Amino acid sequence: MRLCFLVEERYRRDGMPQEVIHRLTAWGHQVDVLRPGSSLMRISDAVQAGSHDAWVLKTVSGGPGLTLLEAAASVGLTTVNDARSIRGVRDKALAAAIGRSRGLPVPDTWAAARPEALAEIPDAEYPLVVKPADGSSGRAVRLVPSPDRLTALGPELAQEGMLIAQPYVPNSGIDLKVYCVGGELYATERGSPLGPDPEVRGRRVALSPEVAAIAAEVGTVYGLDLYGVDILLGPDGPVVVDVNDFPSFKEVPDAASRVGRAVLELARRGGTGPCAVLGALPGPVRMPVQLPATVGGTG
Ligand SMILES: Nc1ncnc2c1ncn2[C@@H]1O[C@H](COP(=O)(O)OP(=O)(O)O)[C@@H](O)[C@H]1O
Ligand SMILES: [Mg+2]
Repeated sequence: MRLCFLVEERYRRDGMPQEVIHRLTAWGHQVDVLRPGSSLMRISDAVQAGSHDAWVLKTVSGGPGLTLLEAAASVGLTTVNDARSIRGVRDKALAAAIGRSRGLPVPDTWAAARPEALAEIPDAEYPLVVKPADGSSGRAVRLVPSPDRLTALGPELAQEGMLIAQPYVPNSGIDLKVYCVGGELYATERGSPLGPDPEVRGRRVALSPEVAAIAAEVGTVYGLDLYGVDILLGPDGPVVVDVNDFPSFKEVPDAASRVGRAVLELARRGGTGPCAVLGALPGPVRMPVQLPATVGGTG
């Protein structure tokens, strides 16, 4: 197969996606790598119908990566993930609107183009978590305990473009990160950047049926094939706080081979993966969904 990976400079030496690219090459596939974040592109000629079996995006939000992937989709090339689905989760405001409208347990979310506008959020909603709508890797995620602290954060947040704010979901300080690859779900735990011990390293944990159903439903709702979901276990149950279209897949056993196989399978099928089928119930659904025996997650 002929594949084109769009890779951000900061991921140049990361296991993900570097090892996936090595694995695919070792299996005899041709992988072209574009680094849209670091080079001048002749964008008018960057995509050609039929050039590859699939284009794969591993870039941060913002920047020309998604633009190129959308251009590839527009000439009929298969993209991993679907380009519109990526847009749907990379804008956290859009992700919150889509998630809530489809019955996912997403926190109440406000969006504002300027930090001053967040001052209108009722005091009763505090403490708040404020984050950039196009953020990733914990960038500029702030816990705002009270309205007066919002003013102090104003200048810093003003650099971040569109912002979202959500009530802080009380939790143990540990994130549940669920990854979907090749139709299988893997759960890991990691210290929340807002918790007492953000350095807690990831480890595999068992996946409860309730969390598995939500994680599978996330794939259906956003139309993603390869993805990760950040879930907090709040007082009223699991809450989805973030969805990532090409996460690290850290702690997923032999992640490079699994992701590589999933990319090939999606390229063959033209982009609709088995995770999307897992929770394919008609109309807006909350849960539970029926999960097949392939769902991973113990140990
Ligand atoms: N509403 C919230 N309540 C409590 N903690 C949150 C909330 N939103 C985010 N967090 C914490 O902040 C972390 C980073 O936020 P997230 O939305 O995942 O942004 P990023 O895209 O930077 O990863 C989450 O993993 C979670 O630990
Ligand atoms: Mg996150």
